[in-house]
Amino acid sequence: MSGSTPELPVVVLDALTPTAQRLVINRRGSTVWEVDSPRGRYAVKLGYPIEATPDWPAQPWTALAPAREGAVLHRLGFDEIAYGEWERGTWNFQPWHEGPDLYRLWEPCRRPDSVVEPHTSVALGCVKALAELHAKGWAHGDVQPAHFIIGPERTHLIDLALARGGQVPEGYDFPFRGCLVHYEAPEIARMVLATGQAEPTPEADVYALGASLLISATGWRAVEYPDDAPRPVQREAVASGRRRSVKVPGDLGALIDAMLSHAPGDRPTIYEVGKALS
Ligand SMILES: Nc1ncnc2c1ncn2[C@@H]1O[C@H](COP(=O)(O)OP(=O)(O)OP(=O)(O)O)[C@@H](O)[C@H]1O
Ligand SMILES: [Mg+2]
Repeated sequence: MSGSTPELPVVVLDALTPTAQRLVINRRGSTVWEVDSPRGRYAVKLGYPIEATPDWPAQPWTALAPAREGAVLHRLGFDEIAYGEWERGTWNFQPWHEGPDLYRLWEPCRRPDSVVEPHTSVALGCVKALAELHAKGWAHGDVQPAHFIIGPERTHLIDLALARGGQVPEGYDFPFRGCLVHYEAPEIARMVLATGQAEPTPEADVYALGASLLISATGWRAVEYPDDAPRPVQREAVASGRRRSVKVPGDLGALIDAMLSHAPGDRPTIYEVGKALS
């Protein structure tokens, strides 16, 4: 079935009775739609296993990710969400958050000779969204620019499929195997290299937010490695902390540097970051 787009499962059609739908992403293991329904606008996510290719091992856990995220959202006290199983994996739906993500919003800052500076208020919105999660005792585990949706009222932190902090149903749980290497803290990269697994932490989230702000404002990754380097080589570079010298100008730059500290204990907490920006 690889190559073709799956369809919305019947249970989802029954629950939402869509009046319009737009495919947002359809890539290996995951399909997301924006769906209009009489109940409001929703993001619908479908997960299915990634089969092995000559370049990739099989990744059966992608099938479980939407249900795991649904369970996490329930745990965090969000209603208006639902999740369940379909033939090839699991699905969830959740309220659609309107707005550009951090990377898109700061695109003008990245243009050559740009005079547009990254807005502190935008950074603060991202900090508040992450602080809310940490205050509830959870770590996100997959903080990246695309996961901050900058809405008119507030910023939302999406994709909680890898979050850790409370019970999730055993049948939908799976180990954390790291995140996108650009945003991976050195201690996480080191653990993943050594054991294949790690544990999301608030300190690693703070590093990931620092790396997200840096790349969104400047276009540069926090750590230097060749674009086409294999994943383990990228992780080696992150683990050894080969920081790029690129900096965001001003106070925000100094704060991002602190967030990207090599040792987790040297990083500010998300509340300290918030205080520094307020
Ligand atoms: N609740 C939501 N509101 C608005 N947009 C959403 C929402 N959920 C998902 N999206 C959109 O769909 C994209 C993919 O969603 P998400 O990151 O949750 O899926 P994923 O399969 O985990 O993708 P990735 O592998 O990139 O993390 C997001 O980057 C965003 O553009
Ligand atoms: Mg995602």
